[in-house]
Amino acid sequence: MSSGKKFARSREYFERAAKVIPGGIYGSKSPGFLVPGHFPYYLEGAKGSCIVDVDGNQYIDYLCGYGSQIVGYGNPAVDGPALDQARRGDLLNQPHPVMVELAERLVDLVDGMDWAVFVKNGTDATTLATSIARADTGKQIVVAAEGAYHGAANWCSTNVFPVFTSAEQRDVRFFSYNNIAQLEKLFKDNKNNIACVILTPYHHPTYKPQQLPTPEFLKAVEVLCQREGAYFIMDDIRANFRLSMAGSHSYFGAHPDMVTMGKALANGYPISVLLGAEALKKTASSFFITGTYWMSAVPMIAAMATLNEMERLGGPHRLAQLGTLLKNGLESLGEKAGFKARISGPPAIPFLTFDEDPNLFLNQRFCAAMADRGVFMHPHHNWFISLAHSEEDIERTLSAAREAFEELRGGFSALFMNKIHEQ
Ligand SMILES: Cc1ncc(COP(=O)(O)O)c(C=O)c1O
Repeated sequence: MSSGKKFARSREYFERAAKVIPGGIYGSKSPGFLVPGHFPYYLEGAKGSCIVDVDGNQYIDYLCGYGSQIVGYGNPAVDGPALDQARRGDLLNQPHPVMVELAERLVDLVDGMDWAVFVKNGTDATTLATSIARADTGKQIVVAAEGAYHGAANWCSTNVFPVFTSAEQRDVRFFSYNNIAQLEKLFKDNKNNIACVILTPYHHPTYKPQQLPTPEFLKAVEVLCQREGAYFIMDDIRANFRLSMAGSHSYFGAHPDMVTMGKALANGYPISVLLGAEALKKTASSFFITGTYWMSAVPMIAAMATLNEMERLGGPHRLAQLGTLLKNGLESLGEKAGFKARISGPPAIPFLTFDEDPNLFLNQRFCAAMADRGVFMHPHHNWFISLAHSEEDIERTLSAAREAFEELRGGFSALFMNKIHEQ
């Protein structure tokens, strides 16, 4: 089935954009990452769990602004105080006192962290964390997991020209997530040169099923870092407070030296944070940390309000409940339709893949069929549940999924499955 939706205005804007904006829409929001003809290019608004595109099509949204919406789009408990502050002044010469209150609150909340530095993007936070580890240890090498995303800077992005990888990633080493032997070998081969290991709390590579850490793995990271004088950085930007209000490291029982958070920290208002342990405070203090917009008041007010709203609405527990409903429903509908459809990762941050199709071709068809039915699920990037989602949203999603799986099983997919079986 081709999309019944109309994207005339989306297309029109994209054609205009292509003339004045490199790539039209650049980076991860490029239409190329979705399924052409089934997804809008431009959105004009959102409320709660629902987004509306420029052609007036509505969707139950499971991308949540790439994770940034945790208590729902346009939540008045967040927007109210944020807009109030915007009227009184956002970007001031000196910080607003809410900066102190937010730092105190995060240090109280997040396990093992003693100080906070506020930045704008997640990339700012991860880059600063690795720089502080390098400065403190006097060592150069950063160790990361293959396929992990820590931002769009040249030191960590996998989407850069070779000239940057050869120069700026010269001192970055990669190993397979959960593979203790490979990590040990890296430490052995780079004796006295490793400044830090940066990891996400669980592995969420694009285009692949998500992978939870084994308890032995996180323990091994800690032991190796301590023994070899390297720091352990937990990049919690994507999961943020979706797994635990004490940070995802607490959920998995890990003890990092620094933690980066962002995305959902202020329900979409631009702010990220680097948190660190006491041992690194002196080095962090000696850094010239600045950015024109980094201390603006509105996102900090929004972050305080988001934390209140998270607590009021049931936080990670409620997210897991809704995510489990979605997971169980999708897996069982998939099975009934004859697919090995599997949700990986924590239920609050789910991703669907088909065991029979590692190339994600079925994901694309499934997500296209869901978009046709008013449900926005990304075919290549993990999804997010928010506290604005309701049981009714999940029911409507599952009823769309029943049809989508049937559509997949019929006509087109039969052809595709035959091809797989012939191989
Ligand atoms: C784990 C992780 N780290 C870092 C980043 C980079 O954050 P930002 O896009 O805000 O720079 C992201 C963004 O997706 C992320 O998921």
